[in-house]
Amino acid sequence: MGAARRGFLAALAQRKGFSVAQEYSDAVTHVVSEQNSLAEVLGWIEGKTGCGVQRTGRQKSPHFLDISWFTESMSAGEPMSVEGRHCLQGDRTSSSTDKADHSAVLPYACQRRTPLMHHNSQITDALEILARAASFRGSEVRYLGFTRAASMLKSLPYKLQSVEEAEDLPWCGGHCKSVIQEILEDGVCREAEALKASEHYQCMELLTSIFGVGVKTAERWYKDGVRKLDDLKDPKFKLTTEQRLGLEHYTDLRLPVTHEEADRVQCMIREALQTFVPDIQITMTGGFRRGKQQGHDVDFLITHPDNSALTGLLKKAMDWLDGKGLLLYRHRKERSHAPHRLNRNMDGHETCYSIFALPIGDLKSERDSVSSGVARSIGDSSGVSSPIWKAVRVDLVVTPYSEYPYALLGWTGSKHFERELRRFSLQEKKMTLSSHGLFDGDTKCSIAATSEEEIFAYLGLDYVPPSDRNA
Ligand code: UTP
Ligand code: MN
Repeated sequence: MGAARRGFLAALAQRKGFSVAQEYSDAVTHVVSEQNSLAEVLGWIEGKTGCGVQRTGRQKSPHFLDISWFTESMSAGEPMSVEGRHCLQGDRTSSSTDKADHSAVLPYACQRRTPLMHHNSQITDALEILARAASFRGSEVRYLGFTRAASMLKSLPYKLQSVEEAEDLPWCGGHCKSVIQEILEDGVCREAEALKASEHYQCMELLTSIFGVGVKTAERWYKDGVRKLDDLKDPKFKLTTEQRLGLEHYTDLRLPVTHEEADRVQCMIREALQTFVPDIQITMTGGFRRGKQQGHDVDFLITHPDNSALTGLLKKAMDWLDGKGLLLYRHRKERSHAPHRLNRNMDGHETCYSIFALPIGDLKSERDSVSSGVARSIGDSSGVSSPIWKAVRVDLVVTPYSEYPYALLGWTGSKHFERELRRFSLQEKKMTLSSHGLFDGDTKCSIAATSEEEIFAYLGLDYVPPSDRNA
């Protein structure tokens, strides 16, 4: 295995009182490897030591074991008794056979490369409609099933030609298979078309596209008879501040944020932050880091090697921007005091969810093409013609330097890639991954990492660059 993963596993074992030898010797009782055959391991030791490993039929030691023995022993806190399923097999282990087969598609999205542009968008579009419709109906299981199938198809480096080809692919059984077949044969999925045309689906799409509105709220409103945005003007609907602003700036917030706009937001934020900490580090994350040219918002990560430089910084910077009339909304969430106790899907970083009033020159034509937007002015008392602005959603996250690689990995997305990375960590490695760290199941100790590459290596995964995380 790679040096980083070996180092991590060795440190874990030592913490639990196991003795880990740096080199092979007769004193070694257990040899653990990952995705190798017995022949490969024996050959490797022979190459290192210059002599073969002496094993007679009766000799029990050393055992040549798969990583499963190691993870089980770490969970148990003591060496597990060796069973047949732990032992390396003569030629190739079953997992290495799978991986050597180039047609085999690995089951977790974080084990695959998923570029932005792919070859099966007609099928994935239909599957994503079914996934969204399932989530609108509150069915997480069905949502995940369709999402996993769509994500897997996005990673294929070729266009699927027949339903038979899909047979061996993960997540493509049952309902998904019939969708694939229908699209390949008829060019259309009737179920997806019917859903898309249904009142419930259209309404839920409309309502959940309002800033601050999730599926549960949208469903409640739908049941209360809301069918269009104007219906929410009825005072019987008590809107949160976010929802009220979401409605007020609905047209703007539905417009995609362009890369050029994201860059300008970054300049504004950098200027605000540098007013207080000149050498602050700021990174654009989210979809833009994955190579998207447009987004629904802009996400930033802020850090500094000196933790004390970060204290109070976000509040000061946001006050500074507000003073210049550049903010329409902000909600700051303090850092959680015990990030390792959080649920793996929760994020305890100090975060500011905001809406910027991004000054912009020629927005009118863009906005007119969407709806009859109104040009507005801000904070201008000079009588000179005022700038026009566009409401843009911006998320700002402050992370301690030591957690930066984890926060970067967690905030780069895509959402499905993140979900899969966390599922892989837990199910395959018995560790909890969050945007604060990688936590050993028992000790709750996080493993220090200095880069995203190291985190992938700790997990025994090939590194996936951001542009291939569009799962
Ligand atoms: P986004 O929702 O911004 O998605 O979350 P995106 O990929 O950038 O796509 P668009 O273009 O804006 O629609 C970005 C990443 O940040 C994480 C999500 O899991 C996702 O991976 N995130 C977002 C959090 O960890 N916590 C949050 O509260 C929000
Ligand atoms: Mn985003």
